[in-house]
Amino acid sequence: MKVLEIKNISKNFGGVKVLQDVSFFVNSGERRAIIGPNGAGKTTLFNIISGTLKPNTGEIFLFGENVIKFPPYRRAKLGLARTFQKNNLFLGLSLLDNINLALRINNSSFNSREILKNWDLWNKRKVRVGELSHGEQRQVELLLALAQSPKLIILDEPTAGMSPLETQMITKMVASLPPEITILIIEHDMEVVFNLADRITVLHYGQILCEGNKQEIKSNQQVKDVYLGSACEEV
Ligand SMILES: Nc1ncnc2c1ncn2[C@@H]1O[C@H](COP(=O)(O)OP(=O)(O)O)[C@@H](O)[C@H]1O
Ligand SMILES: [Mg+2]
Repeated sequence: MKVLEIKNISKNFGGVKVLQDVSFFVNSGERRAIIGPNGAGKTTLFNIISGTLKPNTGEIFLFGENVIKFPPYRRAKLGLARTFQKNNLFLGLSLLDNINLALRINNSSFNSREILKNWDLWNKRKVRVGELSHGEQRQVELLLALAQSPKLIILDEPTAGMSPLETQMITKMVASLPPEITILIIEHDMEVVFNLADRITVLHYGQILCEGNKQEIKSNQQVKDVYLGSACEEV
């Protein structure tokens, strides 16, 4: 079953074509990565999927329903959750308050104690989120997205700016999400991509260059030329 389908999405900023006729779909339970150089249009695409940005043309289907006219909260209600390239937390509130707030907003039956214990963060519950490390903040952001009980979660560079240890931690966390949650992840760290994703879509200057499994992407000459280059040899 298609969880997400993107059909002929184009977006211009001023005269600049940031996305051009982008189409692809993601099946239920997939771990899909989107890779591509800076400025390729990845975050713009996520903003269009979540509904914070309107495309110039094209349609977005979530769980079979055309949501192009839906505001973000209606898309979230259908089962879409996202994290941002930059943190989006209540930095002045404690960790526990952030989680409780998210659970309340989402009418969730989850228990904050259980969540924090599960993810080894219970002993930090009283710490203001602004005082947590960058890695922990990204972890909390992921927890807040999970509090929505999403069916599809879209993650924008969850390891951006992280130390190798923090990157490992967040990779493990994403890898351990229940298999029924479909994951779409934008990620620049190729080791993380090849660890997590079963399929990879390559975006280049606003267009899909190719899509395939790890082996296909690693051995694709076009991908190597425009993007992977030395990154591919390292992994
Ligand atoms: N709100 C905006 N207004 C104008 N240009 C934008 C805006 N958002 C993104 N862009 C431009 O669109 C291009 C793609 O950006 P982005 O989607 O953030 O790429 P990526 O996430 O792949 O690095 C960039 O050239 C960026 O400068
Ligand atoms: Mg981006």
